[in-house]
Amino acid sequence: MKDALLFQLKGAKAPLSGTILADGLGVTRAAVHKRIQKLRTAGHQIVGTNRVGYRWAGTTVSLNPEALKGGIVTEVFRFPVMGSTQDEAKALAVKGAGEGTLVMADRQSAGRGRLGRSWVSPIGGLWYSLILRPVLPPHRVPALTLVAALDWVEVLTARGVPAGVKWPNDVWAEGKKMAGILTEMSAETDRVQWVALGVGVNVNNRLPKSPAVPAAAVSSWTGPIALEKLLLEWVGRFSKSYPRFVRSGFASFRSNYEQVSVLRGTRVSFEGPEGRNAGRVLGVDNEGRLRVSTATGETTCSAGEVSLLRPLELKSAPGKGHEIP
Ligand code: BTN
Repeated sequence: MKDALLFQLKGAKAPLSGTILADGLGVTRAAVHKRIQKLRTAGHQIVGTNRVGYRWAGTTVSLNPEALKGGIVTEVFRFPVMGSTQDEAKALAVKGAGEGTLVMADRQSAGRGRLGRSWVSPIGGLWYSLILRPVLPPHRVPALTLVAALDWVEVLTARGVPAGVKWPNDVWAEGKKMAGILTEMSAETDRVQWVALGVGVNVNNRLPKSPAVPAAAVSSWTGPIALEKLLLEWVGRFSKSYPRFVRSGFASFRSNYEQVSVLRGTRVSFEGPEGRNAGRVLGVDNEGRLRVSTATGETTCSAGEVSLLRPLELKSAPGKGHEIP
C-alpha cells in the first residue's frame, strides 16, 4: 500500500475519502489512516477534511536545508511543527544567532500576524522567519517589509500569479490576501540589534474558514507547487535586495513597488499623524511611507491598519523586540 496510496492521492483531482482509498487498496480505513500519518511524518502534506476526504498538497521531503544556503541564508532550522517560527527566531536572536538564520515550520500551532492577530498556518503553506542584523538606524527598518513583499510579488508574477503588494506588509491577488509579513526588531536608539522577518505564504494549504480579510492560496493559480522551489526563488531575490536596501535605502525600489501596488489610486481609511483619516493613495515615499491625498492636503502614513473604503476598487525596545510598523 505504501506507494499506491501516495500515487492515488497525487493523481486525484478531488479529495478522496478514507473509504474510497481503503476499498481501492483492499485494506481497512484504519490502515489507510495509519499510513497517512506515516506519510505526513515523512514530509508529505496530506490535508484531511471531515466528510470530504484526503488531498495531497505537496511535499517537503525534498527540501534540503543546505540548498537554501549561499546567499543571505547561513543556517536553517526546520521543524515539522512549532508554535511560532517568529518566537523561535526571536529567542535565537536574543541568544546571539547570526544574520541569515532561517527558522521554518511545516505548520505552526500559534502563528502570529500583525496587530496581535493570530495567523492560521496549516500544513501546505510556507511559514518562516529570517534573522537579520542590518547596520541601520531603527527608523529605516520598516521599509524592509516592503522590499520582502516586493520580492514575493516578483516570485509569484513570474509564475503567472496576478500578485501585487498591499502596503505595508501584504501580498494580494484579485482582491484576496495571499501572504503577510511580520517584522519585529530589537534596537537601541541609533542601532538595530536584530530583526526577525516573519513571512507566511498560503501556498497549497487550506485557507482559514472566516478570515478577517478574504484569503487566497498560490496553488489556486499554479496548482500544487513545491514549497522549497518558491522559497529558494524568494531567497535568491532577497539575497540581492537586502544588501541593496541596507546600502541605498528604499528609494531605488520605490518605482517597482508602486507599479505593483494594489492600493495606488484607491480610497482608503488609514492612521495619519492626526488620527484616523481617509483619502486617495498617491503612492509611497523614499522611506516607504504611504502617501495619501486627503481633504486637507497630502499626508503620509507610516504604521497601522489601512483599509480599502471600497474593496471592489481593487485591481524599540531592546531584548524582547517589537512589531514594525
Ligand atoms: C500579517 O499579515 O499579519 C503577518 C503574518 C505573518 C505570519 C508569519 S508565518 C511565519 C512567522 N511566524 C509567525 O508566527 N508569524 C510569521
